[in-house]
Amino acid sequence: MKVVNNVAALQAALANCPKEGVGFVPTMGALHNGHRSLVERARRENDTVVVSVFVNPTQFNDKNDLKNYPRTPEADCAILEAAGADIVFMPTVEDIYPEPDTRVFDFGLVDKVMEGATRPGHFNGVAQVVSRLFDMVKPARAYFGEKDFQQIAVIKAMVA
Ligand code: PAF
Repeated sequence: MKVVNNVAALQAALANCPKEGVGFVPTMGALHNGHRSLVERARRENDTVVVSVFVNPTQFNDKNDLKNYPRTPEADCAILEAAGADIVFMPTVEDIYPEPDTRVFDFGLVDKVMEGATRPGHFNGVAQVVSRLFDMVKPARAYFGEKDFQQIAVIKAMVA
């Protein structure tokens, strides 16, 4: 398993991997068994498995939540190695956002109800980071926790 910390190193690690065989699991770290099963599924279905570990500032409404979000890179790497990841991408904020991302996605009602009602901007931030990560990894398949139903709806709308 290779751990890379910037976009250039990610792209070098992916250089010889056929694009149609790349499976991607985006995460914010603090990994648990749910993440592990996603990575194991990606392992079964792809030649190359990339996992990102990035605490995305643009999806936090509360800056204290961002500051206090658990960061456990060593434990995460141990889980990812056991689950069969090939490449772990742990970028800095500057790598993902060399300049502020001002894009505003229109999800209609989807991001205004349920969790979106109390966390304005949260799903827009998720879409910003997922679209940036997709541009960097260019996966053939991506894997998200199915319990995050609303997030999945937003991401589907973002890539549509
Ligand atoms: O579900 C998460 O962990 C995050 O929202 C995601 C998709 C990794 C984007 O930061």
